[in-house]
Amino acid sequence: MVQKARSPRCRHAPTFWHPVTFSAATLFTPGMSYRILFLGLNTILGAYYLFLRRRRNTVRNILGPPSPSWVFGHSLQLVFAPEYGDYEFSWQKMYGPLYRLKGCFGEDSLVISDPVALQHIVNTPAIEHGPVLENIIELLFGKKSVVSTKGEAHKHFRAAMNAGFSASAVRNLQPALVRAAQELTEELQQISAAPVNLSPRLSNATLNAVLQAGLGCSPADLSEELLGNNWKIVSLSSSQSAPHIFAIGACLPKWAWTLASKVPTATFNVIRSAKNLTEKLGEKVVQNKRELTRQGMEINTDVFGVLMDQYRQDKSKHTLNWEEIAAQTSAILFPGQDPTANTLAFGLWELAKHPEFQEQLRAEIQSNTLAIETCTYDTMPLLNAFIKEVLRLYPAAALIQRIAVEDTVIPLANPIITASEQFISHVPVQKGQVLTLAVASYQRLEQYWGEDAQKFRPLRWIDGTLNDIKAPAIGPYANLMSFLGGPRVCLGWRFAVLELQVFFCELVRNLSFSLPEDDFVRMRFSGSLIPVLPTGEKGMPLSISRV
Ligand code: HEM
Ligand SMILES: *[C@@H]1O[C@H](CO)[C@@H](O)[C@H](O)[C@H]1NC(C)=O
Ligand SMILES: *[C@@H]1O[C@H](CO)[C@@H](O)[C@H](O)[C@H]1NC(C)=O
Ligand SMILES: *[C@@H]1O[C@H](CO)[C@@H](O)[C@H](O)[C@H]1NC(C)=O
Repeated sequence: MVQKARSPRCRHAPTFWHPVTFSAATLFTPGMSYRILFLGLNTILGAYYLFLRRRRNTVRNILGPPSPSWVFGHSLQLVFAPEYGDYEFSWQKMYGPLYRLKGCFGEDSLVISDPVALQHIVNTPAIEHGPVLENIIELLFGKKSVVSTKGEAHKHFRAAMNAGFSASAVRNLQPALVRAAQELTEELQQISAAPVNLSPRLSNATLNAVLQAGLGCSPADLSEELLGNNWKIVSLSSSQSAPHIFAIGACLPKWAWTLASKVPTATFNVIRSAKNLTEKLGEKVVQNKRELTRQGMEINTDVFGVLMDQYRQDKSKHTLNWEEIAAQTSAILFPGQDPTANTLAFGLWELAKHPEFQEQLRAEIQSNTLAIETCTYDTMPLLNAFIKEVLRLYPAAALIQRIAVEDTVIPLANPIITASEQFISHVPVQKGQVLTLAVASYQRLEQYWGEDAQKFRPLRWIDGTLNDIKAPAIGPYANLMSFLGGPRVCLGWRFAVLELQVFFCELVRNLSFSLPEDDFVRMRFSGSLIPVLPTGEKGMPLSISRV
């Protein structure tokens, strides 16, 4: 597991990469104002972090790769790796499922892929959203969203919203999801020129799906302004500046971030308007639905309708009122759209790379029309093995930031060896310690997923390979952490699994996907895992033909 104590740079480190070439100024392309701000803050922050570092000595003893830069630590290697995981997956091989990296200004952070540790972290109240995540959440979702509430308030919101996301509620969303999948299929059937960049089409299709199944409206009901802004939000995570924002965010303490976010740059304007526009949309949707119920119409065919029916029948503290429901619009719109679109894109890419498997899957789908009509997708072994394998290799939230809000002790499944050559199976961390949950790393641990864990091989889910898996049961689905787990487990995970089942079925039974002659797509992390072209833009060009 842990072999070399102090081995130098990891073997995949590309030689052209050098931290010094990233000056503060090149980092701040999104706007001139950042540059001025950052250069000024640099010195103050340095001193601030030196002070913090004194307090954090419990994790000093944990092994990890040497830091390439004092200012940025390893954050640029994590974010700017030519291919996501170039560094991370070899660090894991070298140092095991818990190791230490440097954050900005010499701050220590722990990267964790040990399943027992992950399980503990997502369940303990001592650990919450990390600072970058928290800042973005507050800007984008507002304070009244299930995503930003904490403690008892969060529990209450989750309990009330579960009605809209339970197994039976989600089953009723199938017709809406099928409609969205058929619209995409029809659109793709019209295209003859090859190859087609699927990413923007998949984004539009998953927006269509969350609008229909989540809110009971369609893109046609949205204002031009909202559609345009939504497009910018989606592109934000795929633009060249997104990694910059994360690198910056990771370096700033909360007060500095708050200050930076007040500067009227294009990026923050887009985020602020997104919040404003979705609030308005939510109010409109709730108003329309109240009007429909007054006219005696059924509204419970989408998530919002179910939540509103619940409130109509039980106006107690266990339900959300009109205003609170409206405030959840962004929690359905944003998390519901992009992760699903990117998962679909990576899935179709793997099918294009494995034509034989694609044929087998198509045969299974075509021989199961009954299962499709009755929404019993769970009886289709290849389809589900395929979806699990895609979620395993391409978890949208590949890296998740957390912070200890109290001193706590993290247990491990596998003891690690420290710099002072002791084996430890518990890691004490102090309040303020930043943690990185390395979901993609966990899902590539050979110990749990087989020696070919780095490979796409869906049959591992049905051929017995995983029978001896000794990982504790974690996550809501297939022992994966793609939807995380614990009290903050993805609220829409059943929705997402059904959506993936419906979309893959509709697409694969009508269309065949193949790789263009030069396939230059790679995966990159930019807040979430996305497919990118050599230009750095998000994209998934595939050749498509009718079957
Ligand atoms: C493949 C698709 C999806 C993936 C991989 C995914 C993954 C995740 C993950 C990892 C989290 C936890 C984030 C954190 O706490 O730091 C999360 C939270 C959340 N997801 Fe998803 N998600 C997906 C689809 C959806 C859909 C379709 C919806 C809604 C329709 C949704 C709604 C939410 C909400 C509201 C939260 C916040 C829950 C809370 O904080 O209590 N997600 N998701
Ligand atoms: C896809 O194929 C199925 C079965 O072959 C067919 O019923 C359906 O109409 C097709 N969908 C589209 C959008 O052409
Ligand atoms: C996606 O939707 C936007 C907004 O409705 C539209 O402008 C754009 O053309 C669509 N893109 C594709 C590829 O369909
Ligand atoms: C939302 O935008 C409108 C018009 O653009 C503005 O008048 C209003 O103050 C904004 N609301 C919030 C809460 O920012």
